Amino acid sequence: MASLLFFIFLTAIITTEAQRGESIVNLGSSLTPTSKSSWQSQSGFYAFGFYQQANGYAVGVFFAGIPEKTVVWTANRDKPPALASVTLNFTSDGRLIMQSAQGIDTAIADPPERAASASMLDSGNFVLYNSDKKIIWQSFESPTNTLLQGQRLTVGNELFSSVSVSDQSTGIFRLKMQTDGNLVQYPVQTTDVAEYAYWASGTDGKGSNVSLCLDDDGRLYLLNSTGTILKNLTQGGYPTKDVVYFMRIDVDGIFRLFSHNLDKNGNFSVIWSSSNNKCDPKGLCGLNGFCTMNDQDANCLCLPDFASVIEGNWSSGCERNFTAESCKSKDGSMKYIMKAVPNTVWEDDSFSSLTILTKDDCEAACLKDCNCEAATYRDGVCRKQKLPLRFGRRVLGDVNNIAFIKVAISTSTINKIEPLGREKYSRKDIMILGISLSAFGLIMSVISAIAIYKNRVRAYRRVSNSGNVDLSMDVSLRSFTYSDLEKMTNGFKEELGRGSFGTVYKGTIWNGQKIVAVKRLEKVLTEGEREFQTEMKVIGRTHHKNLVRLLGYCHDGENRLLVYEYMSNGSLANILFKPEKKLFWDERIEIARNIAKGILYLHEECESQIIHCDIKPQNILMDEYRCPKISDFGLAKLLKPDQTNTFTGIRGTKGYVAPEWHRNQPVTIKADVYSFGIVLLELICCRKNVDWSFPEEEAILEEWAYSCFEALELDKLVSDQDVDKRQLERILKVGLWCILDEPSLRPSMKKVLLMLEGTVDIPIPPSPTSFLSTV
Ligand SMILES: *[C@@H]1O[C@H](CO)[C@@H](O)[C@H](O)[C@H]1NC(C)=O
Ligand SMILES: *[C@@H]1O[C@H](CO)[C@@H](O)[C@H](O)[C@H]1NC(C)=O
Ligand SMILES: *[C@@H]1O[C@H](CO)[C@@H](O)[C@H](O)[C@H]1NC(C)=O
Ligand SMILES: *[C@@H]1O[C@H](CO)[C@@H](O)[C@H](O)[C@H]1NC(C)=O
Ligand SMILES: *[C@@H]1O[C@H](CO)[C@@H](O)[C@H](O)[C@H]1NC(C)=O
Ligand SMILES: *[C@@H]1O[C@H](CO)[C@@H](O)[C@H](O)[C@H]1NC(C)=O
Ligand SMILES: *[C@@H]1O[C@H](CO)[C@@H](O)[C@H](O)[C@H]1NC(C)=O
Repeated sequence: MASLLFFIFLTAIITTEAQRGESIVNLGSSLTPTSKSSWQSQSGFYAFGFYQQANGYAVGVFFAGIPEKTVVWTANRDKPPALASVTLNFTSDGRLIMQSAQGIDTAIADPPERAASASMLDSGNFVLYNSDKKIIWQSFESPTNTLLQGQRLTVGNELFSSVSVSDQSTGIFRLKMQTDGNLVQYPVQTTDVAEYAYWASGTDGKGSNVSLCLDDDGRLYLLNSTGTILKNLTQGGYPTKDVVYFMRIDVDGIFRLFSHNLDKNGNFSVIWSSSNNKCDPKGLCGLNGFCTMNDQDANCLCLPDFASVIEGNWSSGCERNFTAESCKSKDGSMKYIMKAVPNTVWEDDSFSSLTILTKDDCEAACLKDCNCEAATYRDGVCRKQKLPLRFGRRVLGDVNNIAFIKVAISTSTINKIEPLGREKYSRKDIMILGISLSAFGLIMSVISAIAIYKNRVRAYRRVSNSGNVDLSMDVSLRSFTYSDLEKMTNGFKEELGRGSFGTVYKGTIWNGQKIVAVKRLEKVLTEGEREFQTEMKVIGRTHHKNLVRLLGYCHDGENRLLVYEYMSNGSLANILFKPEKKLFWDERIEIARNIAKGILYLHEECESQIIHCDIKPQNILMDEYRCPKISDFGLAKLLKPDQTNTFTGIRGTKGYVAPEWHRNQPVTIKADVYSFGIVLLELICCRKNVDWSFPEEEAILEEWAYSCFEALELDKLVSDQDVDKRQLERILKVGLWCILDEPSLRPSMKKVLLMLEGTVDIPIPPSPTSFLSTV
C-alpha cells in the first residue's frame, strides 16, 4: 500500500514538473553538432542534444552538469553516426527530426500525434507534449541501456548493453523483463529459455505484469501491477540530496547500480552489481573461446591450436589455426590428437553422451569418432560434440570438468608427444592458481558467487519448467516460437528444397554463426501439443552420426516447424545422379554402409523403434565430409493416415516403396529394408531406379539388375574401371535380397550390414519378381 501511495506521489511529481513548464523547447527550435548547444533541464544536470560518437554524432540524453558526459539514452542507436553538417529540427509542424545537408529526414521520436512543445525534464526524461500539455512521447518509455531514478523497465521490454563505452550501439547482452515476472539476463540473439540465462531475479510465476523500478533513494526492485514489491534488488535508503542514482547494463553484460555525488564532484561509484564474477555473462568470449578470471578481471583465451578471429575482439571468438580434413588419412592412421582444457564448463550441445568411467576413456572415445570434434567430461558423463563450443569459462575449484579438443598433429607436437597429447597447465594458470590460493578470501567469494549463481539459475529452471512438458531431460532440444524462426530464416526467404513432409528453408542461429535447416511441416495431424512434444523428444534423443540431428522445433498456433543441422552438400540424389559430381566406387560403398548403420540404429538401437517409411536418396543428406545422414526419420507417425499412401510413387512401376504398402499389409521395419535395397542398387549403378531414357529392358533398375545378375553380366551395371568383381557381386546380391517381394524373406538391417562388410556368406538371391503374382 505504502509503495502504491509512493507511486501515485512519484507520478504526481512528474506531472507537476511538466506543469511548471520548465525549460520548454518551442516549435521551430534547432540544434547542430558543431554549435555545442543542447536543450538542458532546468537543473542543468541533463541535456538533450548531439554528442560525439565514433567519427560522427548521435542524438541523445546525457549528463551535462558533471565532467563525465555519460550518455543515458540514445535515439536510433543502431543507425550510423551523423555527419557534422546535420541539423536537429523541432519543426513548426511539430516533428522532431534530424535533417542531413542533402535534405534527408530521420525521425528522432515517433509520437502518435504532432507535438506542440518539448521539454528536457529534471528527471532525465525528454518528453514531447501536445497542445493540451499532455505527454505524447517520452524517452523513459524506450530505454536503451540505462534506467534513471523514477524510470521503469516495463513488462516485455529489454535493456541492451552498448558495444563499448564510446559506442552506444547495441552490444551483446540484454536484460529482459519477462511476462512470467522474471527479470533475466541473456546474451543477444538467443531465445528466452533458461539454458541461455546467466542471471535471473527468480520472481517468475509471481504475476504477468511486473516492472523493474528505480527509486530516488537508490532502491531497485520488482513491482507487480497492484503495487506489491516482489523483490528488492537493493534496499535503498541512500541519501537523496545532491546524489543521483542510475542503473545500467554495462558493456561486460553485468548490470550495476551507480551513484554520483554532485557535491563532491567525485566519480561514479558502484553500489550494487548483478554479479561479482565478470566471467558470468555468457558469450563474452565468443565461439571457441573461454573466460578466465585474471585477478578481478575477465580474460578470454582460445582453445588450444585456435587463434582469435579478430585480435583484441573477444566476442569475435576463435578459429582453428589448422585446416580440418576428413579425420582419417588414406592409410588409416590418425591425423589428430586430443588436447585437454582443464577446469572449464561449456554449453552442452552434444550429439551423444556416454556414461564412461574415466577422463581418458572420454578422450579416447572422441578421438575414435570422426564426428566428434570436442568432448566434455564431468561426473562420469562424456559428451561428444561438434565445434563450435560456446559459453566457455574456467571454473577454479571445480576440478572435475574437463574439455578435450581434437587438433591436428603438427610436426612440433609429434616431437614432444605427451601421453595422448595432454596439454600441461601453462605458467599463467599456475600463477593464477597461486594467487588464488594465497587469497583464500577471494576463493571463498568466488565459490559463494558460483553457488549463488547456480541456485538462481536452478530456481529459475525449476519454476519456468513447471507450466510445460518437462524438457529438461533433453537439454539440447529447443523450442522456438514462430517469430524466432521467422527471424532466423529472414522471413523464410531462402528455400533449400521441398520434400514429402514440407518445405525446407535456410536459417541461422547463434548470431548468424551456425547455419540450420528449418522445415515447415505440412499436413501434420492436428494433434495436441503434448503428443507433438513427445514425438519431438523421441526424435531429439536419437543421436547417431548417420542421422541428421534435430536441434529444435516449433509448435506455435497452427505452425509446426522443425530445426535441423544444415548439411552443406545437399542430398545424395544431388550427388549421385549428376555425372559431373562422380563418386568413386569405394566412396559409394562407404556411403551404403553408413546409410545401413543409420537405419540399423533406428530399427534396433534407439530406445523406441523407428520405422522411417521414406528412405530414398532425396532424404539422405551429405555433410561437409560427404558422410551420409538420414533425415525425416520419426516423421511418418505425425502424418495423417491418408498421407502415408501418397508415398507410392508411380503406379505400376516400383519406386522406393515396398510392395506391402500397396497391399494394405502391415508395414514393418522390412519396408525400410526394401527401400534401402533400391538405394543400394542406385549406388552401385549411379542411376535412378526408374529412368525411361534407357532402352526399355534397362529402364527399371531392379529388373535390369536381376537380369544382369542371372546372365552373369555384371559389367553392364557399372561404368567404373577399377571395380573389384567379387565385391560388386556381393553388394549386388545384398541389394537383390533386400528388394524381395515377401517382407519376411528380406534380411534385417543387422544382417545387411554384416553382408556388406563381407563377414557372412550370401546365398544366391531368388528373383525379386518371383512373388509378384501375389500383387
Ligand atoms: C531546420 O533548421 C535549419 C536551421 O534553423 C533551417 O535552416 C531549416 O529550414 C529547418 N528545416 C525545417 C524542415 O524546418
Ligand atoms: C501482486 O502481489 C500480491 C502479493 O503477492 C498478490 O496478492 C497480488 O495478487 C499480485 N497482483 C497481481 C496483479 O498479480
Ligand atoms: C501493467 O501495470 C501497469 C500499472 O503498474 C498498468 O498501467 C498497465 O496497464 C498494466 N499493463 C497490462 C498489460 O496489464
Ligand atoms: C523492500 O524494501 C522495502 C523498503 O526497505 C520494504 O518495505 C519491503 O518490505 C521490502 N520488500 C521485500 C519483498 O523485501
Ligand atoms: C575518477 O576516475 C578517473 C579515471 O577513472 C580518475 O583518473 C580520477 O582520479 C577519478 N577521480 C576521483 C575524484 O576519484
Ligand atoms: C597452431 O598453434 C599451435 C599453438 O599455438 C602451434 O603449436 C601450431 O604449430 C599451430 N599450427 C599451425 C598449422 O599454425
Ligand atoms: C567484434 O567482432 C564482431 C564480429 O565478430 C563485431 O560485430 C563487433 O563489432 C566487433 N567489436 C568491436 C568492438 O570491434
